[in-house]
Amino acid sequence: VSFTVGSANGNATSPYQYGLIFEDINHAGDGGVYAELIQNRAFQGDSIFPKNLNYWNPLGGAALSLQNLSTPLSSALPTSMQVTAGNSTGGTIGFSNVGFWGFPVVAGWQYNGSFWVEGALNGNVTIALVSNSNTYYAEASVAVHSSSAWTQYNYTFTPTVSAPNSNNTLNFTFASSSLSGAVNFNLLSLFPPTYKNRPNGNRIDLMDAMAGLYPSFFRAPGGNNVEGLQPPYWWNWTQSLGPLQNRNGYPGTWGYEQTNGLGLIEYMLWAQDLGMEPILALWSGLWLNASSVPQSGIQVYVQAALDELEFLMGDASTTWGALRESLGYGPFQINFVEIGNEDSLLVGSAATYSAYRFQAFYDAVSAAYPNITIIASYYDVNGVTPPDNAAGDIHNYELASQFARQFTLFDNYTSAHPILLGEYAVIAYDAPGVTAVQWNAGAPREFVPVWYSSVGEAVYLLGAERNSDKVIGAAYAPTFQNLNSWAWIPDMIQFDAYPGHTTLSTSYYVVQLLSGTRITENLPITITSGQFGPAYFVAGRNSETGSHIAKFAVYNATANGTSNYPISLSFDGVGPYATGNLTYLNAPMNSTNPIGGNVVTKTVQTVTASRNGTFSFTLPDWTVAILEVGAN
Ligand code: AHR
Repeated sequence: VSFTVGSANGNATSPYQYGLIFEDINHAGDGGVYAELIQNRAFQGDSIFPKNLNYWNPLGGAALSLQNLSTPLSSALPTSMQVTAGNSTGGTIGFSNVGFWGFPVVAGWQYNGSFWVEGALNGNVTIALVSNSNTYYAEASVAVHSSSAWTQYNYTFTPTVSAPNSNNTLNFTFASSSLSGAVNFNLLSLFPPTYKNRPNGNRIDLMDAMAGLYPSFFRAPGGNNVEGLQPPYWWNWTQSLGPLQNRNGYPGTWGYEQTNGLGLIEYMLWAQDLGMEPILALWSGLWLNASSVPQSGIQVYVQAALDELEFLMGDASTTWGALRESLGYGPFQINFVEIGNEDSLLVGSAATYSAYRFQAFYDAVSAAYPNITIIASYYDVNGVTPPDNAAGDIHNYELASQFARQFTLFDNYTSAHPILLGEYAVIAYDAPGVTAVQWNAGAPREFVPVWYSSVGEAVYLLGAERNSDKVIGAAYAPTFQNLNSWAWIPDMIQFDAYPGHTTLSTSYYVVQLLSGTRITENLPITITSGQFGPAYFVAGRNSETGSHIAKFAVYNATANGTSNYPISLSFDGVGPYATGNLTYLNAPMNSTNPIGGNVVTKTVQTVTASRNGTFSFTLPDWTVAILEVGAN
């Protein structure tokens, strides 16, 4: 294919072209980004996930039980773990936690922990990271003099050697002679070092992985997780604030109780730490069981959304702003909110969304905050565009071939209602030459992204980029998968408790490349020979670096008779013999990234324009590439 790139009549692109969606799915939050290492630390539960002693084991014959004491640690955490001597015949007793399927032990990491205790224990409690073969990697000793008042104790340790795997437990032990009855524990916590050393913070390697995508927006709390499974549970932000002992659990939508340790403030700090614009998901009155709040009751939740915005943005003279200030945080800026999640997917609820729910939130939020962009959680489903000035959100989970056909999908959308591609991913296998899998729930899926699917996604993303005066930005979903406990595949980043297992998928590398070099002004392309496909491309300029940029995805050139696809192009204003950097990603089309590994190769070449200013090169089939000329 040959084409020229003009220098006039361009379109400014969205400053948010690539970003992240975060929801606590696949233990992405608890047991994932949220760095807490103890699982079931506060015995939280509800009618959906009953409280239990899972992940705790007695040591030395001790007996463990759940108790609702008359004086609980807090009203939010009314249940604690009681320890008695049980069958112990003397010596050391206690309990251990198995963590989120193990504990990472890394030499030099300073771990910081705490626990609350009440009851009849007077003596030293030893807390130790111990391997399954009884190697003690680190330990701390805390003198506990417990009483009928709940008291918090802190501990810290720093292992000097790393464990070869995460097959480790955290053991709490004490002499049985120091126990004169029963002792009660609650909110037992252990944190490794966190990103930017934030207390109650995030896991460093996963934050680094996200930072490596140069994300510009952060949609959270995302996906189904904001909705809640059934009444009365919804992502009630008021229960996610302040000291951890004040935070109720939340019955998450993906099979486990959430601690709410990752709360509203933590989401804001996360966005801040990675330089991302928050897109705050507001609960819209829809549950996943398809029931929704009746019109007569919706104002309660509209007010909760207004309170949430006041909590984040209001000054100390406002009720909710004052609460935020009292927690030690200045105001945050919210420029985007999304009302709900996928309200259009459920027929009964779609009716209530368009009948009254969306409008109730839209009217209230736009009246109070006229500068906030309000995003409806649907767009163009059955021909429906968002009302008023709202933007919309599209979620695409399809086959690679369908993605590759969607290069022009956004061409006819209107900038009157910009679109967020709030979730996208190729989910099922349909390699060329293989019978396409017609996806529906239960059909086979990819376990992790496959390179040819990632190239299909690249075609779709370039289709979004060429319309990025209308497309706000795109986010792969879901972002994370804990390899020990997941409910959705494929995902962009895999991990478990062992840091060496963190795996960036092939789709990750596509986003990293495309997001890392931004076109700020799309410029018109004139094709002089050939057409879009099998090479798909966009081109323009970056006003900050002054460079000219063209981005490419080559999807299945082999079917067109060549495994090396020839491309030539020139940019208006770029003269003879100019040089540029051609960076391309390539991998065997059916390959996937193994745990901790990467099959995607990155090649960087200098290319030189001919005497008439034309850059000519070939790109291998299944390639995603960027040509950048004249960066400062
Ligand atoms: O990303 C996984 C799920 O897919 C999200 O929770 C939901 O929004 C979508 O259906």
